[in-house]
Amino acid sequence: MANYKLVDLKIMGDERGSLIALEGNKNVPFEIKRVYYIFGTKQGVVRGRHAHRTLKQLVVALKGSCDFVLDDGKKRVYIRLDNPAVGLYIEDMIWREMENFSEDCVLMVLANEYYNGSDYVKDYDDFLELIKK
Ligand code: TYD
Repeated sequence: MANYKLVDLKIMGDERGSLIALEGNKNVPFEIKRVYYIFGTKQGVVRGRHAHRTLKQLVVALKGSCDFVLDDGKKRVYIRLDNPAVGLYIEDMIWREMENFSEDCVLMVLANEYYNGSDYVKDYDDFLELIKK
């Protein structure tokens, strides 16, 4: 699967602790139009379960951990996000599910577009059909 990648984020650390800076079209592979974050996810919840027609995103587990399932219609990969110095870049037309959220998990998501409900593909069979085209 070529349409996702893990990105190492450089830590500007010193004796006081750590700092990471994210900049559009630099270490973030697109211009950032939107940032949202997911926290307080209840035990056993699965989030996501959709693909995006055009949206590209970079996800960072700022705190805690969760598991990503990514699916391009041919292959499934499982990625554990548990490091604030690693970003998961997800391109368009990838089915994603997030599960096994730790209680303290804070997931920050950067996106290249504003929120648009019609960009979502929420049915897995529809996703498979769109992939074929
Ligand atoms: P949703 O996309 O269902 O979250 P996830 O796929 O991560 O489980 O989003 C939950 C709700 O928040 C839904 O009603 C849409 C709304 N929402 C916005 O208004 N703006 C946003 O940027 C996002 C991501 C969601």
